[in-house]
Amino acid sequence: MKDPKDLRSARWFAPDDLRSFGHRSRMMQLGYSEEDFRDKPVIGVLSTWSELNTCHSHFPERVKDVKRGVAQAGGFAVEMPALSVDESFTKPTSMLYRNMLAMETEEMIRSHPLDGVVLMGGCDKTTPGLVMGAISAGVPMIYLPAGPMLRGNFAGKVLGSGSDAWKYWDERRAGNISDEEWLGVQGGIARSAGTCMTMGTAATMMGIAEAMGLTLPGASSIPAVDSNHVRMAADCGRRIVGMVWDDLTPDRIVTDAACRNAATVAMATGCSTNAVVHIIAMARRAGVRLTLDDLDALGRTTPLIANVRPSGEGYLMEDFYYAGGLRALMMQISERLDTSVMTVTGKTLADNLEGAEVYNDDVIRPLSNPVYHEGSLAVLRGNLCPDGAIIKPAACNPKYYVHEGPALVFDSYPEMKAAVDDEDLDITPDHVMVLRNAGPLGGPGMPEWGMLPIPKALLKQGHRDMLRISDARMSGTSYGACVLHVAPESYVGGPLALLKTGDTVRLDLPNRRLDMLVDAAELETRRAAWKQPEPRFERGWGWMYSRHVTQADQGCDFDFLQSDFGRMPGEPDI
Ligand code: FES
Ligand code: MG
Repeated sequence: MKDPKDLRSARWFAPDDLRSFGHRSRMMQLGYSEEDFRDKPVIGVLSTWSELNTCHSHFPERVKDVKRGVAQAGGFAVEMPALSVDESFTKPTSMLYRNMLAMETEEMIRSHPLDGVVLMGGCDKTTPGLVMGAISAGVPMIYLPAGPMLRGNFAGKVLGSGSDAWKYWDERRAGNISDEEWLGVQGGIARSAGTCMTMGTAATMMGIAEAMGLTLPGASSIPAVDSNHVRMAADCGRRIVGMVWDDLTPDRIVTDAACRNAATVAMATGCSTNAVVHIIAMARRAGVRLTLDDLDALGRTTPLIANVRPSGEGYLMEDFYYAGGLRALMMQISERLDTSVMTVTGKTLADNLEGAEVYNDDVIRPLSNPVYHEGSLAVLRGNLCPDGAIIKPAACNPKYYVHEGPALVFDSYPEMKAAVDDEDLDITPDHVMVLRNAGPLGGPGMPEWGMLPIPKALLKQGHRDMLRISDARMSGTSYGACVLHVAPESYVGGPLALLKTGDTVRLDLPNRRLDMLVDAAELETRRAAWKQPEPRFERGWGWMYSRHVTQADQGCDFDFLQSDFGRMPGEPDI
């Protein structure tokens, strides 16, 4: 156990010198006595709250609960706000700011007298942003997930975040829904604090944080407004103090095995496609190289057992919690996990899973009756995506698994939007819609445009799916035959930039291929004629972002924030 004089915060508060006098007198300015903070672990409660982050509206209350726990355990807690990165309002896309949150988290920890942190996030990018930054900062940390909101409800029907918005919107565009019904859906689809309650990016990433060993057992599944969530917040406060005394730093938790566990669990939950970029980026902060090929291999062998929308039928995160939550799911697949890994509890994953039970085996399925025999994601390669692309087989109509059709290519979102709304658009269900210039640099920030809307012309004929390809991401609550994350992206000259309307595109999912059937000589001619688009930013965050963001297969972190940055040539790769 650590001696109080070895606390990091003691560097600020202990010495008998003028600077420390200043630090102590400023604490007294806040109304604290020396007994409050001297020789105690100082815990930063990093809260990503804002009045525009609808998913974190319970955080001001939960901060108090965390602080209560910290005080009980003999620590001293300070709340520190961190960039809120809300998913609903942040434009052009919250992904543009994930790395900003990561940098802020890292530097805020580094520059302040903190011995440990409780990270409070949940809305999509906040989980990876906070975790990436805290891994790099290296002080003991514990993640408190916001938890999902309650199920949506309208006219006796259960509504799921995202998924049902898309579904009802398609029906509205097809002319099947009245204004009044549409207003009812609007008021019923999000009706409490908490994150989206389908297995979207938020639920996926909170689950990944738990599977990595970074939350207290079961934390990621508790609905935001459940009083169990209040108690979990206080537990986090109590536990982080012990972690500081034990010097249980993130490098002891986020190991290669922990990252693989997290990826396996993600596959079994029917994870959001966004998990790919985030988990690669998180792992790299810990010096763990997790590749698209690793994820594909796990995807091929891990059955999807969480029967939660959008991959599963009917159920939502609230049901998942009542069915036993993530601990029960991990118990079901424990033979595929390395349960000897250390976690924030100071115990192994195996210890944390003890006693976990499935209470509803239609929601959390046994391995003998999975929702889908393989995992959630597949990685494609081919002459359209030499560095990879992602598809979510469980969320698309199997008739597209092997498909060949003519490309209809759009260079921008507005151009694509105008076309899909054109009732006379010349298009067949066999067409392959393509959107480019929507990647990490092209978007910018790789917006969630990848579930391209089905053209009105096809909707009216009753079609609800078609093959779509882009270098964008898609929302974790989206579905359909959408190939995403094409790398390298078209904006930097990836082969997607060379595709033309009318070219034949071929998807062969069983063989993990995505190709354009255009001969090499013709592609060379097109490459010679290709011109790099104008830079999108001349100043500010966007300027820095565009110079340093990595491609989707690398996790879209900044090159200079990865753990291997600055290594001499010839040194081993991370
Ligand atoms: Fe916050 Fe979906 S908008 S999790
Ligand atoms: Mg989302």
